Amino acid sequence: LKGKYLEGISGAGDEVALEDLRVAALGKKGEISLKMRELGQMDPAERQAAGAALNRLKDEIDAALRAKKAALADAALDERLKSEWLDVTLPGRPRRQGTIHPVSQVTEEITAIFADMGFAVAEGPQIESDWYNFDALNIAPEHPARQEHDTFFMAREAGDNRPPHVLRTHTSPVQIRAMQTQGAPIRVIAPGRVYRMDMDQTHTPMFHQVEGLAIDRDISMANLKWVLEEFCRSFFEVDSVELRFRASHFPFTEPSAEVDIRCSWEGGQLKIGEGDGWMEILGSGMVHPKVLQAAGVNPDDWQGFAFGMGIDRLAMLKYGIPDLRAFFESDLRWLRHYGFAS
Ligand code: PHE
Repeated sequence: LKGKYLEGISGAGDEVALEDLRVAALGKKGEISLKMRELGQMDPAERQAAGAALNRLKDEIDAALRAKKAALADAALDERLKSEWLDVTLPGRPRRQGTIHPVSQVTEEITAIFADMGFAVAEGPQIESDWYNFDALNIAPEHPARQEHDTFFMAREAGDNRPPHVLRTHTSPVQIRAMQTQGAPIRVIAPGRVYRMDMDQTHTPMFHQVEGLAIDRDISMANLKWVLEEFCRSFFEVDSVELRFRASHFPFTEPSAEVDIRCSWEGGQLKIGEGDGWMEILGSGMVHPKVLQAAGVNPDDWQGFAFGMGIDRLAMLKYGIPDLRAFFESDLRWLRHYGFAS
């Protein structure tokens, strides 16, 4: 009996075979267990000798089972260590890193520069009511400026004759919203997406503007000029800039001015701050009294300036990017070429 089990155990190939052997020998109906039960029918002298022998046998088989089980587990572990071997000294595989989009980056730069001058950030919805986008900004329904904006209109349900909402054509409606919620004095910029039906090398149907608004007791065009010069020096990283204010017209400012920056093109390379060329960068002016009124600010007590500039355009100028459309095509080769992705 002993030889049979010990040989069987030493030859067992896996834990299942081992368990079968354990049940056959020591299980409830196992050979050894049955023999133990037979002890009851023996006379005392016989029983003592046989009992002791059986117990010894049981212990031996039990020990052999445990030893074999441990050996099998060791072998299995060795096998795993061999197959799951890992060379921790191998160099890692380089991972491409995502980077911030040029427009987001430029927006952050602009926001930081104006924050230094005390401007907080204001926001408004991209789907805007006709009133905020036009009326409140002194652009009446028949005003020709409405045509110039190439507006995207939202659909209304049949029979609803209210003026349709629009995709905001500029960030200027945020002027109204900011003054309504914060009152005067106020100093904010409002960067964000705007929409116009237009598409060529320098226009996309969606683009980005940043609005500026400063209202206080005695703010003038002189303050506007200083703020814009300060901004341009900082943004284009040059010691001095020269800005040219050209008389212009916007319904929401009076007087109004378009602002150009002195620059030159040398061998396809744009240089800001020198040369004999001018590049238009923004529209601006003193906020029209009707606009203040529409936003609940008393024009007898308060006055100030507003400006609006194209963020994508500023990014093109700063990084020498010729085609605006490429900004929104998500072409990694393009982003890498301009150093915006790795
Ligand atoms: N909203 C004007 C535009 O989209 C820019 C502007 C803003 C002009 C504020 C004057 C004052 O062109």
